[in-house]
Amino acid sequence: LTAVRYPLLKRGNFSFLSDRHLGFFQSILSAHQVLTDELNDLSGYNVDWMRSVRGSSRLVLRPKTTEEVAAILQYCNVQNIAICPQGGNTGLVGGSVPVFDEVVLSLELMDEVISVDELSGVTIVQAGCVLEKLETVLHLSNLALPLDLGAKGSCQIGGNVATNAGGIRLLRYGNLHGSVLGLTAVLANGQIMDCLNTNKKDNTGYDLKQLFIGSEGTLGVVTQVALQCQPKPSSVQVGFFGLNSFENVLETLRLSKRNLGEILSSCELIDQSSLECVTKQLELRSPINNFPFYMLLETAGSNAGHDAEKLNSLLEILINNGTIVDGTLAVDSAQAKNLWGLRERISEALACEGYVYKYDVSVPIRQFYQLVDDIRIRLGNLPIRCCGYGHLGDGNLHLNITSHEYNPILLNRIEPFVYDWVGQERGSVSAEHGLGLKKRDYMEYSKSPTAIHWMRRVKKLFDPNNILNPYKIFPEQSSTD
Ligand code: FAD
Ligand code: MLT
Ligand code: ZN
Repeated sequence: LTAVRYPLLKRGNFSFLSDRHLGFFQSILSAHQVLTDELNDLSGYNVDWMRSVRGSSRLVLRPKTTEEVAAILQYCNVQNIAICPQGGNTGLVGGSVPVFDEVVLSLELMDEVISVDELSGVTIVQAGCVLEKLETVLHLSNLALPLDLGAKGSCQIGGNVATNAGGIRLLRYGNLHGSVLGLTAVLANGQIMDCLNTNKKDNTGYDLKQLFIGSEGTLGVVTQVALQCQPKPSSVQVGFFGLNSFENVLETLRLSKRNLGEILSSCELIDQSSLECVTKQLELRSPINNFPFYMLLETAGSNAGHDAEKLNSLLEILINNGTIVDGTLAVDSAQAKNLWGLRERISEALACEGYVYKYDVSVPIRQFYQLVDDIRIRLGNLPIRCCGYGHLGDGNLHLNITSHEYNPILLNRIEPFVYDWVGQERGSVSAEHGLGLKKRDYMEYSKSPTAIHWMRRVKKLFDPNNILNPYKIFPEQSSTD
């Protein structure tokens, strides 16, 4: 077996799947929970959303309970069988698909919303619940999720926790390290770790649940999550604006934070090239003419009159002093959805162009767009496009470069340049997507050798046989590590 696009990667010394192993899984699960048909069943589980990496797993297991997950892991640990936990398979760093023949452990049948408490906002849910389904259930109780992302129709809350997903509401509610009150995880040896705290405050020793948030399936399988949800805002405003310079973008961010205060719920940037791609590839219409930059601002509050007054007075300042040149405000939720489509569907549009070199970085806010300018100069007309968009309010830039097909010469012009650039600014080489397989060799640009050493120690402690998502997160180990 060789890993597609990673020919130098070597398969770990794990057991090959045998009829005896299969017989065991069939004895503890029902027929529809054990998938083996390579042609009809397995292909979707072996390929990532971007179709950039492909594994060759011969088995997908679909447990329905924490206990079933525990029985699977206990057996795999004893039998030395490698596992790839999989949620909605929307991950963008190749973490959710097997590299070789790891058994895929899909959480998709664990999709129950266990409880919703309108008063406290505490919601307990099985890890395989799709984010959008959870959102619909919460709306019935007048509650809203503390996170939202373009993949919400497919991604699962367990996958979101495992990646510490960011998205478009992080600006307002912070990341999942704050919103996850508790979780249940099954460890590599099959032990069930009950950290399903539902209290807002709990300072009883180490907060072990935090280890699983962002661990990308390498420390345990998350099976249940207790989330702090928020009251559903009764007033939402969405505006889309055109700006002539990045200085004006920064000024709009500064004044939005100052003037909108607690009702500012999103502040996103789209550059001209990104908008051109999304309108062209997906046949969407921009409500305003061409500008070098566009911003999407959202407010979420509880008093429509008050919120409108705040936004209008902000816009008056920004338009009067020439910071914003043109723009539109959504008059209803359908228009708001269309405006959000121009931002959230950029990744889908870019994928239509061929191969996408995707970078998800944190950089100091003043340098936010400089990387895009620098890489454009460096690459000249080698790629189809270099574009930048992202979660401006959180300092999270999505730098994307496209070419008709995978081009190693282009890749060598981009990397390690991008990582050096980000490292020098003391940014993060993965702001929200994680490291998975595709970014694992660049961890050292954002983490010290001592930090990496202790991360490896934690991994060894929780998963001494390295059966959980091997080949992910950690760089290949050299003899001096
Ligand atoms: P998967 O892709 O299946 O898995 C991701 C990782 O988590 C893998 O390493 C997997 O092994 C592990 N994992 C999954 N479930 C579990 C579990 N229950 N227990 C343990 N490990 C598990 N990401 C952002 O952060 N912000 C965005 O704004 C954003 N927008 C996106 C928009 C689009 C159109 C797409 C395609 C992706 C986007 N993403 C974004 C990336 C992706 O959606 C997130 O990383 C998401 O959290 C992954 O969830 P998932 O259920 O699909 O997990
Ligand atoms: C987004 O914010 O659109 C996502 O993180 C996906 C991407 O980076 O393309
Ligand atoms: Zn993003």
